[in-house]
Amino acid sequence: MRLWACCRLHVLWAALAVCLAVGFMIQILGVPFQKSLPPRNEQGGRLLSWSALDRVAHSAGTAMCQPKLHVVFLKTHKTGSSTILNILHRLGDRRNLTFALPIKYQFSYPNPFFSRRVKGYSPASKQKYDILCHHMRFYLPEVKKVMPDDSFYFSILRNPVTLAESSFTYYKSVSSAFKKAPNLDAFIDDPLRYYVPTEKSNHYARNLLWFDFGFNHNTRFSPGYVSGVVAAVERVFQLILLTEHFDESLVLLKEALCWGLDDVVAFKLNFRSEESVHTLSAPAVAKLKAWNSLDWYLYDHFNRTFWQKVYQFGQARMAQEVQLLRERREQLMADCLQGGKPVEASRIRDESIKPLQFGQAKILGWELKPDLPPGSRDICTRMVTPELQYKDLLDAKQFPPVNISSTSKPERKTLANNSVPLSQDDGGWRDMAKRPDLLPGNKDSQAKDIRVVR
Ligand SMILES: *[C@@H]1O[C@H](CO)[C@@H](O)[C@H](O)[C@H]1NC(C)=O
Ligand SMILES: *[C@@H]1O[C@H](CO)[C@@H](O)[C@H](O)[C@H]1NC(C)=O
Ligand SMILES: *[C@@H]1O[C@H](CO)[C@@H](O)[C@H](O)[C@H]1NC(C)=O
Ligand SMILES: *[C@@H]1O[C@H](CO)[C@@H](O)[C@H](O)[C@H]1NC(C)=O
Repeated sequence: MRLWACCRLHVLWAALAVCLAVGFMIQILGVPFQKSLPPRNEQGGRLLSWSALDRVAHSAGTAMCQPKLHVVFLKTHKTGSSTILNILHRLGDRRNLTFALPIKYQFSYPNPFFSRRVKGYSPASKQKYDILCHHMRFYLPEVKKVMPDDSFYFSILRNPVTLAESSFTYYKSVSSAFKKAPNLDAFIDDPLRYYVPTEKSNHYARNLLWFDFGFNHNTRFSPGYVSGVVAAVERVFQLILLTEHFDESLVLLKEALCWGLDDVVAFKLNFRSEESVHTLSAPAVAKLKAWNSLDWYLYDHFNRTFWQKVYQFGQARMAQEVQLLRERREQLMADCLQGGKPVEASRIRDESIKPLQFGQAKILGWELKPDLPPGSRDICTRMVTPELQYKDLLDAKQFPPVNISSTSKPERKTLANNSVPLSQDDGGWRDMAKRPDLLPGNKDSQAKDIRVVR
């Protein structure tokens, strides 16, 4: 108790010192400094400068560090990863970082990642990017071609049981196994009745995380194999976040990357209404665990390492930082959002912030207050911009539209032709990396080099 009180006092003093310093700065810099602040928000005037809070958060944190700005995010499905994408989009956008963007919206998922699917990339230019974060099936050798060696790799996992439920609702009309099953209970009861490994989009129906990480999601569970895969993931990914502990995850991310609080604050995006969430019985949970045993192993492992990381970070410190993050989010929600509650996509009239409605569940989004002053409107709009629209904005920024006279037709044609066949029985990139003959498109990638050069 005493220790806690003393720490709080410490923080209070630090905060007071920062306030005094900032006040002093404003006095010294006078009018020019005040001019550079965005206009105040009438509804409370708390939105202020985007980075003001960063400074406080940094001074309250540990020693000075250099923000890491080379980032690979493996965006897994149905894990809350759209919210992480918004964080990365905004960070890269504000700092004018270069994104490795897909030509459309995904890197030819479910095929393994292939560097030639990055818009504008050619092996001859050997260009490297700052951020790679759109949907892909992970494949390290190709990722390394476009990302610097000092990149920070991270991803996010969710409990495979609730993930399976979410996947069923979302991909019911896509996955062959889900399509055949009359409902979720029937599927859970006897998945093999509906599931044929080779049928269309069935990676959504079994061990989806394992698949997204690039491994064979239909492999029989064996202790040697699964521990080998987890070790391979651990060698590449410095941090694995958990959907169920989103805020703690964001704090760990902020710490690992030396980012500020405002760099990781976000509103929940691409989520469904509660009414579409199907509650599962205990036997159903057990069956889904067994059905997704590879994913369960992965999740169980990284759940353990996650809490080790929290412990190393300090539990009291974590509680404090999570509190700060939540307060900041609530403040931004109060300042930005109309009604403070999410609304159904169909009710959002502004197309630039309307989330994609897909699957059976109603996807929710946010409406902005109508009369935000320009500076706040800009910040708020970016926070509620769904991934597809934001990707288009970044694309337009990185590839400014050229005058019609010089069309980009030839580039598009060659890129659209580089489809990589999905190898049916890959052992994941861990094994593939050792077997160059199994690299996707290895042989014809040389042939394609020539074509691109010409
Ligand atoms: C980003 O680019 C814009 C437009 O060129 C420029 O005005 C802005 O200052 C840049 N921001 C940073 C952080 O470099
Ligand atoms: C994750 O780890 C925590 C802490 O050890 C534990 O309480 C929790 O039950 C674990 N979650 C699952 C789904 O195993
Ligand atoms: C294209 O170029 C012409 C002449 O250089 C110019 O008049 C026109 O405004 C340009 N169009 C666009 C969309 O930039
Ligand atoms: C690929 O290229 C060939 C010949 O260059 C062309 O006929 C074909 O339509 C292209 N396929 C796609 C998907 O663009």
